[in-house]
Amino acid sequence: MKKIFFLASWLIVSSLPAQQTVSLKDSTDKMQWFKDAKLGIFIHYGIYAVNGGGTSWPFRNGQISYADYMKQLDGFTTKNYHPEQWAKLFKEAGAKYAVMTSKHHDGVAMWDTQLSDLNVVKKTPAGRDLIAPYAKALRIEGLKVGIYFSLLDWSHPDYATLFKKNKDKIVNLYDSPASGVEDETRWQKFLTFRDGQLKELADLVNPDLWWFDGDWTRTKEQWKMKELRQDLLSWNSKTILNDRLQGYGDYQTPEQGVPIVGPTEPWELCMTINDSWSYGKNDNNTKSLNYIINIFTDCISQGGNLLLDVGPTEDGSITPIQTERLKGLGRWTSKHAEAIYGTTRGLPFGHFFGPTTLSKDRKTIYCFILNTPKDDITLKGIKNNITQIRLLGTNEKLISKRIGGNVTSVPGILRITLPAEKMDLNASVIAIELDSPLKLYRAKVGAIEEN
Ligand code: GLC
Repeated sequence: MKKIFFLASWLIVSSLPAQQTVSLKDSTDKMQWFKDAKLGIFIHYGIYAVNGGGTSWPFRNGQISYADYMKQLDGFTTKNYHPEQWAKLFKEAGAKYAVMTSKHHDGVAMWDTQLSDLNVVKKTPAGRDLIAPYAKALRIEGLKVGIYFSLLDWSHPDYATLFKKNKDKIVNLYDSPASGVEDETRWQKFLTFRDGQLKELADLVNPDLWWFDGDWTRTKEQWKMKELRQDLLSWNSKTILNDRLQGYGDYQTPEQGVPIVGPTEPWELCMTINDSWSYGKNDNNTKSLNYIINIFTDCISQGGNLLLDVGPTEDGSITPIQTERLKGLGRWTSKHAEAIYGTTRGLPFGHFFGPTTLSKDRKTIYCFILNTPKDDITLKGIKNNITQIRLLGTNEKLISKRIGGNVTSVPGILRITLPAEKMDLNASVIAIELDSPLKLYRAKVGAIEEN
């Protein structure tokens, strides 16, 4: 048996490309901070905040001409850009990392790139690099530094040269070849430019995490994804890569919708506070704090993180309403930190109607109560003995009783009484402590044959 198992494992390992075996090995421990972090802040900051009309897409989609879009360069002052204040606010919100746009699809670099004049130092009143101060401020507050980088670049003259998937039709002026003919030399020039910009960023801030975007426009061979991953890891073997690298990333990035069943690999949901990634002048559709907590607990309950997005105004301020949401979230995350950070995916569906997490030793179940119920809450299929139940952030010990079941085989139903007057303003959390690591009852309930 052992021999067969050994042979099977050897076959599996030896059939993987060398690249993948290496990445599987180093992902286990380098991913730990990310898995424990639970909350990150996404920042879409760039010239698009001047009009407040959308991140890069407006000219790509023909809502505004390229020339008019680029007029925003003249209005990008960053005059109230104080990343130290951002970092303090993100920390107060309970975030452990942030990810900021270093270059969005419009191709405008937020640092002093030597490889193109299209950057905020040369082309905007800001006149300075915005990336290094951001990274420095985060690290002072103990937050990890993430850098967003758009693989596609709708401004670079060599970008729109190769578009294999749709090579017979002109899909768009900015991302397809005008002639329909691929120009390998120009595409290679573009890749050299991309790699050069990435190396500049790596030298500038040595990111803890890279957040790539826009990979859908080319194949992994065209992007040279394998080589890209190797390069990034050769500069810093511990850096984490998101998955918009067509199989060469470390974690998945669902966008704007919590998965029904979260992936088993590490993952992170990116989600806007309103409906816009960057500052949206007319976007007042801000999510309520309760709804943000609902989304957040849904993510962590399924083993994922939330990367909550803010869109600062062109001067570098985070709007009052987004600041209020982050502070509100901070009150809630600090009160309930024990149930959030360093926990793991909660109970499988069916044991409790609501999000849950588990402590790493699996001896505490945290249940998130998003709405105060009219009656006791119910947990099913918990075989362990309960040692105590606490209402987090209070000194309250809660009373529970088992309904039905029997001592030896069927655990019955656990009913817990909540103190209505002690419930949290947004969402309460109860910690159910067990006498041993969680044992779940999932058998089909039939007759109890011994009473
Ligand atoms: C999409 C959008 C881009 C945004 C990103 C965030 O890729 O194209 O504008 O920055 O999502 O996940």
